[in-house]
Parts: sequence; C-alpha cells; structure tokens
Amino acid sequence: MNATLDHISAALNDCDENSPFRLENEGAYRAWRARKLESRRQLHADRVFAVAPDAVLSRSLREQLRRQVDAFNFAIIETRSVVDKRGFVEINRQFGLKQIDSNPGADADSVTSLRVVDDADERAQYIPYTNRALNWHTDGYYNPDGRRINAFALYCVNQAERGGGNYLFDHELMYLLIRDQSPELLASLMAHDLMRIPPNIQNNRVVRAEESGPVFSIQPGSCKLNMRYTSRPRNIVWKSDKRSERALNLVREILMDGEAGVEIRLQPRQGVICNNLLHGRQAFHDDARQPPRLIYRARYYDAIDLDRGPDLQHAVCQE
Ligand SMILES: [Fe+2]
Repeated sequence: MNATLDHISAALNDCDENSPFRLENEGAYRAWRARKLESRRQLHADRVFAVAPDAVLSRSLREQLRRQVDAFNFAIIETRSVVDKRGFVEINRQFGLKQIDSNPGADADSVTSLRVVDDADERAQYIPYTNRALNWHTDGYYNPDGRRINAFALYCVNQAERGGGNYLFDHELMYLLIRDQSPELLASLMAHDLMRIPPNIQNNRVVRAEESGPVFSIQPGSCKLNMRYTSRPRNIVWKSDKRSERALNLVREILMDGEAGVEIRLQPRQGVICNNLLHGRQAFHDDARQPPRLIYRARYYDAIDLDRGPDLQHAVCQE
C-alpha cells in the first residue's frame, strides 16, 4: 500500500465506523439522509442570523445555528454595523473556525480582500480579483491534504451596483443525490486518483506542486464530508475511464438542473459562513461613483463546530 492509501486508511480508521459517508454503512446513511431531508424541509436557507464580533453566541442561538448548518451547510449572518477584518475573524471563531489558511492573494492577516484589482496587479490573472463570473467550485480544491479547506466565510463590506450574487449548493446534498442514484458512481468520486491538478509554475518558480485526490472524502478528526471540485476545464486532469466520466457528468447534470441550489446576494454587513460547499459568483458591475464591491474571505482547515467557539463556559453562565 502506498503512502497516499496509508494516509486515507488512517483517516478513515480515525472516524467513527458508523459514519454515514462510508459506502458500506447503509443503515447509518439512511438515518442521516432522513434527518437531513427533514431538517431542510423544516428550515429556511435564507434566514439571516444577527451576530456580533464582541458578543459570544447564546446557547439558543448556537443551537439554531447548529440546526441551520446541519441542514444546509451554511448560515447567513448580519452585523449591526460594518465590521473590520479583525471583527470578521472573531465572528468566524464563534463558529469554531480557528485554523485560517493563507493563500498568495491574501492580506498579511490571511484574510483576502476580494475586489477588482488593477491590470498591473499580479492577482488580475485570477478570476476572483476581476468582475467576471466564477463557475461552480469548492475553495482550495488544489490544496494538499495537510491544508484541506473544510470551511470558508465571506463578509460583504460593499456590494456591486449590479450582479455579484453568489450561488450555493450543499455538497452533502450532492453526495446524497448521487448515492441515491448510483452508489457505484459515488465510489468513483471517492477514488483517490480521480483528479490531478498540474503544478502552478510562474516565472520558472513552482508556486504550487502537483496535487491529486478524490472529489469526496471523509475528513480525519471531524469525520465530515469534504468535497473538492471545479467545473473549470483548465488546469485540471480528470481520470478518463467510462465510470469516472459518468460520475462527473452526473455532478454536472445535478448542478445544471439547479433545483437544489440557493442564490444569495449579500448586502453590506451580511456574510455567509459555510462548510466548503459548492459555490459560484455572478459577474458584476461597479458604479464608478460608489465604493467598489469589497468582500472579505477567510478559508479554514476546520469544519464549522459550534461547540468550539471562544468562551463558551462564560456564555453558558450568562444564560
Ligand atoms: Fe470560492
């Protein structure tokens, strides 16, 4: 067994053997599936939760957020006034998000300021720093195993004059829809050699080494489902056997069908905190007379865990 397989086996062994995401656990999957679909029926994905960087979430709010995240894998939040990057990070901490990932376009504090940059800026070659549409993807799908992105957060300081909405698709729901239709194709999406991402080489310097891995995996530690995906055809090589092609086509069909996706257009003071679900962005247009669109983004190695926020003991005592 090679090092990669060793790693995957060790990760799975760390997880509860009853994980609903393990293909052999049909009973656990059925129970999880029923709970998931029922909570999605009962709750509203577009509900907005009031939060503050300097006030710990109350027990009841935490419970409501836990249900929301279990159902949809994201929650929309709103602050009373616009917070700075530090406040944004503090809010994310209350969701148990602490291990922040830094990417080359991020600011010194590892938070990325998503805005249209000048053509002379190196980042202008990357779509997030332009006003162009971003197609379906999960964040950091090109990251190595040790830097797997399990959650990210966006916070809107200024919205564009037109466009700039986000669309979201719960990756657990994608898993569910595929498993219901074809466990065999789901197995293909969990194969560790399904995707290969060539290295990123800029000016003869390796910015990122070659990466490979599955679309769906179970994360060590949290035992949550992780999805790595991009609908961009460039800079990614998919395994080309018939079953893998059918599996990837099924993902595309479900995304194109659009029925289970959610569209949101963040307003200033609003954000979305999510496990690393499938998402995209509409193209947008800034009004030159208004402040340009500015969204803070932070990516995390943790998955959302509302029991891992700061000072919970203190919060419980206050109730
Ligand atoms: Fe993204």
